[in-house]
This record gives sequence, structure tokens and C-alpha cells, in this order.
Amino acid sequence: MRKHVDYLILGSGAAGLSMALELAQHGRVAIVTKSQASESNTNYAQGGIAAVMDAADSFESHVRDTLIAGAGLCREDVVRTIVAEGPEQIDRLQKGGARFTEQNGALHLGREGGHERSRIVHAADATGREVEDSLLGRVHADSNITVYDYHFALELITQHHLGEKVTRSRNDITCFGAYVLDEREDRVLTFLSGVTILATGGAGQVYLHTTNPGIATGDGMAMAYRAKARVANMEFVQFHPTALYHPEASRFLISEAVRGAGAHLVNLDGQRFMSEYDERGELAPRDIVARAIDDQLKRHGHTHVLLSLAHLHSDEVRDHFPMIAATCEQFGLDLATDGIPVVPAAHYMCGGVKTDVNGQTSIRGLFACGEVACTGLHGANRLASNSLLEALVVSVRAAVAARQPDSQVPINDRVPDWDAEGTSLPDEWILVSHNRDELRRVMWDYVGIVRSTHRLDRARRRTRVLYEETEDFFRKARVTRSLCELRNLIAIAYLIIESASLRQESRGLHYMTDFPGTRDALLHDTII
Ligand code: FAD
Ligand code: SIN
Repeated sequence: MRKHVDYLILGSGAAGLSMALELAQHGRVAIVTKSQASESNTNYAQGGIAAVMDAADSFESHVRDTLIAGAGLCREDVVRTIVAEGPEQIDRLQKGGARFTEQNGALHLGREGGHERSRIVHAADATGREVEDSLLGRVHADSNITVYDYHFALELITQHHLGEKVTRSRNDITCFGAYVLDEREDRVLTFLSGVTILATGGAGQVYLHTTNPGIATGDGMAMAYRAKARVANMEFVQFHPTALYHPEASRFLISEAVRGAGAHLVNLDGQRFMSEYDERGELAPRDIVARAIDDQLKRHGHTHVLLSLAHLHSDEVRDHFPMIAATCEQFGLDLATDGIPVVPAAHYMCGGVKTDVNGQTSIRGLFACGEVACTGLHGANRLASNSLLEALVVSVRAAVAARQPDSQVPINDRVPDWDAEGTSLPDEWILVSHNRDELRRVMWDYVGIVRSTHRLDRARRRTRVLYEETEDFFRKARVTRSLCELRNLIAIAYLIIESASLRQESRGLHYMTDFPGTRDALLHDTII
């Protein structure tokens, strides 16, 4: 079955929903999303949105903090644009119905690591849900937008599907839409569109331990890579220092805002340790805190460290962090008085599909925004709460760019439908779950917080075997979401391992034991 739309948006997190609302005034919009519409990284965001909202704060300070965290790889022009447009986006969200925490009639601004000032706009400790709910409510009310939930985008359509071999990145690749698996009906739809937008979010699921929900399998980055778009800086994976360590909690995030409010990190011997690593202590940027915890665990042979708020006012703690406190309580922990067991977990992908500040990729007719994209805002390390900011600002800018006549691709009726010939439902589906588990463990053990050439080589050998087995299976099998996610995760692992191997230095989030310093010659993006 074929569908024609003006704008095809893949993903329904902050980036996709925000862009849909802008585009709906100018044409028919389809949002394709692989689970229920609200399921996204956005929905789980806790700390908030970084924006300069206080007269005592300044754009210059927010720009400076972002550049320092980015360790030389941010694009300063992009940083300045996104920071300057932050307050407008907060205003837009509020006008659209989002309610943020206030104090004395003004926005309450939280504090997070690496920020010189308190500048985090938040809705208690569940900011993402507030943003997602308010955007989604407006999307559902807009008659020009159709949401296709439980629809999984399989592949971007380019001239490759018209029979022309596109074997590497070049300037004339055009995107005509996407093949999409309708999971309920078990059929593949051909969506043809004037402009296609990747808003598919991150890839935390490539690691064994992650704060990301199950949808974060890097599908957009992998599809763009297969379509031969430029992909940048995939070595820069952000590990959040404080995910709950509990067998049933699947690495629930304990927000950085908790450290912003004064929480201490102590090891199992009861010692506060952060001052050994950085003079900013618990409020050092999160790469430093994550590495410090990793070092403590390895040095003492412990499984976790503790986050302690016992010295703070307990009613205030429960008041400020109601969702985190309630979740801890489910696991028998009192956030205000107990030491909360925490470990680092994969959290955010700084790299992605390379775009400009308007979301334009290297492929005509294809835009990308949100976590799937690499605009140059984050450089080698993302400053806390800068990603919702980026998703909101860039989605609005991309909507303006996507409406320009030269961004639009004429609907191409020569595009063939999905070819499932020769495939069947083989009985070896155990391969999919086994290979996914193995991949995630390999990535965690060898391509994690601390890397080395030796470990990367080992990871490359292991993932090569997983790649070959999975591709062989894919050629014979009917497409399913789980199989395609596995292929995508393997592609993401490949991109991370190759990018990490190319960067023979330690910068920002990328730390190599055999190359501990920075090298000026590598002061550039890693492009694959
Ligand atoms: P997402 O919100 O992840 O949305 C991606 C969408 O694409 C989803 O709807 C998904 O189902 C869909 N999708 C993916 N693949 C496909 C496919 N193949 N076909 C169809 N649909 C697909 N950032 C901050 O700035 N502040 C915070 O406080 C903060 N807290 C966080 C807390 C947690 C626990 C996590 C996990 C992240 C946090 N982040 C935070 C990061 C931030 O939430 C994300 O970077 C941001 O929300 C990404 O938005 P997005 O729209 O790009 O992607
Ligand atoms: C958090 O609340 O710690 C997450 C903030 C972020 O990822 O930006």
C-alpha cells in the first residue's frame, strides 16, 4: 500500500512532535512512530531544559558552559544560535499548555553539572512527560497531522531503490520517503513524501546498561548510514553517572538535579570521593563524574556507589523530586534518608546524522533533528539539559527550512514497493535475542566509559561475527521489528567502534587508556 504526504516525520518525541506542529500549517503531515506515540526518550526526561531565563544569567555564560563541556569540538555559531533561541522555545511550550515549576510567581530554575548558574526550566522531576503530553495533545487535535503508531520505519527510500547503485556518500542523493512496517497488519507500506524528517532519537540500547527506554535502538542513524548520509562523532557516547543500581529497576535515572540540589556521592567505605577527581566535586560535568565512579568501582571492587541526601531537609527532597522518590520507594528505598545505590549507564548519543543548525542532512529531501542528529551543539560532550533545548530549537528552524521549495522532492511514483520475495519465517528466532544480548554486553565491556585500542579491536572482531550471522538471517527472513532493531544496533556498534578507533586521543566523553591526552590534529569531527 502507498501513501503520499507532504511531510513524513519518523518519531514522536520532542523533536518530531514540535516539528509536526510547525509544518501542519503548511501541508499534510504523517508521524510514523514504532510504539505508542508517547513512548520516547523525551517522555523520561527528568532534570529539564537549559535556557537563559533569569536577568542575572546571560547567553554568554550558557554559551561558555556549553563550549567548555564540548572540549573543543562544538560549532560555536550553532551553540550561539541554539542558546539564543532557548527562551522563545520555553515561551512557546508554555503558550502550548506546558506547566513548569514556579516559585514566587517566576520559573524555578534548577542547577546541574557544568552549568555556572541555575538555568534548568523543569516540571518537578518529570519535565519530559510534561513536554511530551502537551505537544502530543496538540498534535492529536490537529486535523492536518495523522499519527501512525506501532509503525516501524525500516528504510529510507533513495535512488538506490530505483535501481541506481548508491555505494557511498555523494552530493546528489535524494530521499523520496520511507518503507514502513505496519506491525498490527504485518505489511510494509511505501510512504512517499516531499520532505522526510528523521526524529528517531538515540541509541542507548546498544549498551547493556542504559537509562534509555527500549525504543532507543538507533534506527534513524542506522537508516541514514545505509542511505549513505554523513554520520558524525559516534564515539561520543554520554554515560550518566547515576542510574539506580537495583536488579529490578532497569537502570532508572536519578537526575543530575539531585546532585544539583546538594546530594553527595560516597563509596561503600563511606568516603566522599569526588573532590579527589575535580574541584567542582559532585557538580563536575558528567563525564568526569562517570569516570570517577568507574574508577572507584574498579579500585575497590565494589558493584556501586551511594548517592546520599541524608544531610538535606527531607521534606524538601521529597517535594522537589516526587517521581524519583516514589520510584525509589517501590524498591524499598527512601530518597531522603537512605544511601541510594547508583552506577553509570549509557544515556545520550552526542554523535548522529550530520546536519546544519536547520536540520539539513547531506541528502536532499532529508532532515534530521533531536538526538538522532549531530548539529555541532554538543561537540565531544553534551552539557546537561541541552538536548531538549536542541530538539525544540532545531525542529522549529528545520520546519522553516523544509518548507522552502528547494527542500522539497517531487513525489516519485517509480519507487517500487517493498520486495519481500524469497523470505519466510524461519524458526531460528533465538538468534535475534541472543545476538542482541551479546552485542550489548560486548559494547558495555569493551567500548564503554574507558576504552583502549586492544578492547576496540576485540569488540570489532566480536561484532563482525554478529553482523554476518544477522545479515544472513535477514536475507532469508520476513521483516520484523526485533530483527530490524538488531541490524540497526549492529550498525550503531560498528559506527561507534570505527569512530572510536579513528580518534586516537582522549577528549570529552571519549577516553582511551593508550592515548590519555588530546591531540590538536584531531580537533575535528569524525565523519563516517
Ligand atoms: P525521542 O524523544 O527519543 O523520540 C524518538 C521517537 O522516534 C520515539 O517516538 C520512537 O518511538 C521513535 N522511533 C525510533 N525509531 C523508530 C523507527 N524505526 N520507526 C518509527 N519510529 C521510531 N535531556 C534534557 O535536555 N534534559 C533532561 O532532563 C533529560 N533527561 C533525560 C532522562 C532520561 C531518562 C533519558 C533517557 C534522557 C534524558 N534526556 C534529557 C535526553 C533527552 O530526553 C533526549 O535526548 C530527547 O528527548 C530526544 O528527543 P527526540 O525527539 O530526538 O527523541
Ligand atoms: C538528568 O536529569 O540528570 C538528565 C539531564 C540530561 O540528560 O540532560
